[in-house]
Amino acid sequence: MCGIVGYSGPNNSVGPIIEGLSRLEYRGYDSAGICLKINNELQILKKEGKLDNLKSLIQEKKPFSHTGIGHTRWATHGAVTADNAHPHGNDLFAVVHNGIIENAGVLKKELQAEGFEFKSQTDSEVFLVLLTKFYLETKNVLLSISKSFSTITGNSAFVIIEKNTDKLYCLKRSAPLVVGDNQQTREAFVSSDPFALVGFAPRIYFPEDSIICESSVSENGVKINFYELDLTPSDRYKIQSNAMSVDTTNKGIYEHFMLKEIHEQPSLIEKIAAYYIKNEGRKILDQIKNFKTSCWHLTACGTAWHAGLVIKNYFEQINRQRASVEIASEFRYKNPIINENEIGLFISQSGETADTLACQELCREKGISSFAIVNVEGSTLFRNADKNFLIHAGVEIGVASTKAFTLQVLTGYLMSRAMSGTLDDPNLFVELKLLSNRVSELCADSEKIKKIAEKIYTQKGFIFTGRGKYFPIALEGALKLKEIAYVHAEGYAAGELKHGPIALIDEEIVNIAVVGPELFEKTISNVEEVKARRGKVVVIGPEKSEELEHLSDFYLGLNFHGLNDLSPLYVNVALQFLSYHIAYLKGTDIDKPRNLAKSVTVE
Ligand code: AGP
Repeated sequence: MCGIVGYSGPNNSVGPIIEGLSRLEYRGYDSAGICLKINNELQILKKEGKLDNLKSLIQEKKPFSHTGIGHTRWATHGAVTADNAHPHGNDLFAVVHNGIIENAGVLKKELQAEGFEFKSQTDSEVFLVLLTKFYLETKNVLLSISKSFSTITGNSAFVIIEKNTDKLYCLKRSAPLVVGDNQQTREAFVSSDPFALVGFAPRIYFPEDSIICESSVSENGVKINFYELDLTPSDRYKIQSNAMSVDTTNKGIYEHFMLKEIHEQPSLIEKIAAYYIKNEGRKILDQIKNFKTSCWHLTACGTAWHAGLVIKNYFEQINRQRASVEIASEFRYKNPIINENEIGLFISQSGETADTLACQELCREKGISSFAIVNVEGSTLFRNADKNFLIHAGVEIGVASTKAFTLQVLTGYLMSRAMSGTLDDPNLFVELKLLSNRVSELCADSEKIKKIAEKIYTQKGFIFTGRGKYFPIALEGALKLKEIAYVHAEGYAAGELKHGPIALIDEEIVNIAVVGPELFEKTISNVEEVKARRGKVVVIGPEKSEELEHLSDFYLGLNFHGLNDLSPLYVNVALQFLSYHIAYLKGTDIDKPRNLAKSVTVE
């Protein structure tokens, strides 16, 4: 969602701020702004729409400033307008904010009654006005930040600059925020994502909640002070080197990040297999060798929830352990039945999804251990977990999650194999290598999927179906298509069609039917039901089947042989390509689909 970048140092802050915001564009936003401290004045430039609009304004004005903050906003309170864009500022402070101030309405009324004026409809401006009020009373910046922060409720991250110094202040509650420094170049940074600081800040600080970070730059270097809200010094932060590479910001030979990320899957499959079976990851999995619990509570959102559904099958079928999988935004409010010695397993690419984090916190309150399958090392989910199972997918830029799904499922599968004590089974490595090869073959020959896309992309609606282990893949296929192609798509268990959705079937509807080798005949009967009602049918099933060829309007034959439990991942890559090509033909913004954000940090 929103992106934050702040800079203080000897150079023009505009460069690193705009570069950082560009790197965070993939997260989704609808307006952008920057505030620069120039000659002890805070100058704000804001524009609705793409970052390019702000860049043009900057190009025109050519500002120079040693200290500044920038923001890309994904609207929550107030319409998408330049006034509502961040930073919000006055002649004392400027503020950028990610998150939601839940008591903003009440506070705004109180502040207005006291005579304070507001220029925007945002909740964020309430923080600016509180800060100003407390500063006018105390003349103490740190104290004013602490008081303002203690007055608001909800999860938020703030960065603040003031007109009198070049300091950067920031703090947060359950929202991503990092501080960075480069002692050689004497530069200080703040961001909502370390990715924005790659190549700028070799060292990253991860403050815990409710810690005020104050960064100041002098000829002696960068000094970062951390304070508790009572303004005593704090050591509640972690330091890490920023090991990411700038290459990840590059699409390389591909037209879209999504396509690049689909193509990265074969090598990532081999890497994760080597990591968890033979290399450093092995000791992490050995910790759960023969592990048993009476119930796993898997929670996640969107694609990660679908990964959870596949992992549940592994835990139940391979380990015969009970696993419940719930959508995080439901689990957190349902007063779930959680017993001692059960385990919470949270799945997330970003590790910053607000609802998933709330479930982790709920499980912590109920006293059970928290395990995480997560991509971003150092994310909030990662830091709050008792055990982490990193998926090592690298940065995923496409808003539509592809490689993260594959690696979440594989990590869950390897956990399951560790629990059954079969990690050293030589067939396991062979099976994973086979998956990588089959996915490579799909990548090399995605033209045949494109040809199917060309035949169906103008259709009105799509129903994805599958049975058993392919049911979660039907859900994921439909989600991918709707999010990037803006077309109505639903995923169903094939046997469920006749209980309602079959009423939708006519010649304008396409059934994308995954017909796996298991329950083959039964799944075919479901396809027949669609055909009988003049629906168009794309069958994805075992290759060289005359029956499937005859049954379908379009047939994608795949080689399932030897993939066993991993075949859903193989089929899913075919569906990723199908969605990609349909979206491409429809001309949508594939990497940054409308209304979506990469990391959903508000509930
Ligand atoms: C997937 O394509 C999505 N854009 C979305 O559903 C995503 O998987 C979900 O928001 C969860 O994100 P997370 O993995 O970062 O927690």
